[in-house]
Amino acid sequence: MPALDLILDYGNVLDRAIGPAHGLSPAEIRRAVPTVRALVRQIERERRQGQHRYRDLPHDRPMLRETQAAVARYAGRFENLVVLGIGGSALGNIALQTALNPPYYNLLPARLRRGPRLFVMDNVDPVQFGNLLDVLGPTLKKTLFNVISKSGETAETAAQFLIVRDLLRRRLGASALRKQMVMTTDPEAGTLRGIVAQEGYDALPVPPGVGGRFSVLSAVGLFSAGLCGIRIDRILAGAAAMDRRVSRTDVRRNPAALLALLLYAFYVRGKRLHVMMPYSYQLKDLADWYRQLWAESLGKCTAVDGRPCVVGPTPIKALGATDQHSQIQLYREGPNDKVIIFLEVEEFTRDVPIPRSAGVPAELAYLQGHTLGRLLNAEKRATEYALVASQRPCLTIRFPVVREETVGQFILLWEAATTIAGALLRINPYDQPAVQMGKEFTFALLGKPGYERQRAAYAKAARRAGRATVS
Ligand code: PA5
Repeated sequence: MPALDLILDYGNVLDRAIGPAHGLSPAEIRRAVPTVRALVRQIERERRQGQHRYRDLPHDRPMLRETQAAVARYAGRFENLVVLGIGGSALGNIALQTALNPPYYNLLPARLRRGPRLFVMDNVDPVQFGNLLDVLGPTLKKTLFNVISKSGETAETAAQFLIVRDLLRRRLGASALRKQMVMTTDPEAGTLRGIVAQEGYDALPVPPGVGGRFSVLSAVGLFSAGLCGIRIDRILAGAAAMDRRVSRTDVRRNPAALLALLLYAFYVRGKRLHVMMPYSYQLKDLADWYRQLWAESLGKCTAVDGRPCVVGPTPIKALGATDQHSQIQLYREGPNDKVIIFLEVEEFTRDVPIPRSAGVPAELAYLQGHTLGRLLNAEKRATEYALVASQRPCLTIRFPVVREETVGQFILLWEAATTIAGALLRINPYDQPAVQMGKEFTFALLGKPGYERQRAAYAKAARRAGRATVS
């Protein structure tokens, strides 16, 4: 089997590639190494004391067995699987499905699919949700719902749950509820856990100490993936291999430490927009998952010592080659405030030749005999070269191939890089107080008891803003 290790290629962030005004010098990197090495050591120590629990997931055999057993209970019985969840309770599911099942999986006939069609509802848009219910209508009896919420309190997921519970009860009778709903939530606390106990649903745990955006390698992300035929044991095997790499205290051999070091160095230099640009449809939703992880973990206003601070890089996602035709003009000629993180695939799981055929005009003849994969990778290299020519720093994470093992590596790589970047920024990457505030104000606006103070504060702010509209 060929080597499956992801490669981090950082030649094009160095001063020898893009010049000293924008590139990092080897001496600058060398100077940062001891700090990052000390942080890696500290994180390893903290792990032994029970922190950074997401790092244990790749090695958690009981969790894998429990998830596989749940998959086995439902396999072959349903035409549709609908995940109800949002943020960290949805983005990982979407990313795994896009990366590891065919792009038009849901449109394939059942015999060509490895499991049910998958719909991940990570919003409460009424038109979208209503239409999904229309689509599911004829096969409602053949639909399994996986409600995912760590807190068990999130308004969006709770609303979806109430709608689906009512629909199943009305259309199929109360007995359908326990047959067609699986809850993934905190093993002990929260409203959803209470409902599980009261109404007797099948349930999977969100592991204690693992926050939403760090939970894809638990039942949160693995149940839907497994039911859709993805080899979840191999995802964990890839993540476990990366876990070993990112434990290394030799920073130059630790891809997460190096990623964090480089991106932090650019952050300090004012390049605070971190664009992830996969040249692979399969990887496009991993860029979305990264966007949440990097943003929600690192954008903070209180340092770990309690002092005020305002920090956080802005993650952006783009897709090659599509966004060459919409974003690259800005990235090359606009402000030099970005780092471009390309994702490149060496060997696509399938390729499409561009045929040699009669009547091809001379201007297009150069394409003949190539493949779409080769064209896509040539576009990546050409775009990178163009950016480098404009002194824009570029990193590449190279996938030998997109499969379970490499996707598992990628996930653990970015999770570990986030922890180290959080330590460099001196903030707690695991909380999200600002998101919490929005959740509380939603409760207030919808009249949930206990949120009267927030309701009054909202009314006051609305009065201050006054009416300022134009039509
Ligand atoms: O990463 C996070 O903590 C958030 O994105 C949560 O996953 C999101 O807010 C949903 O929360 P919950 O799973 O509690 O419903």
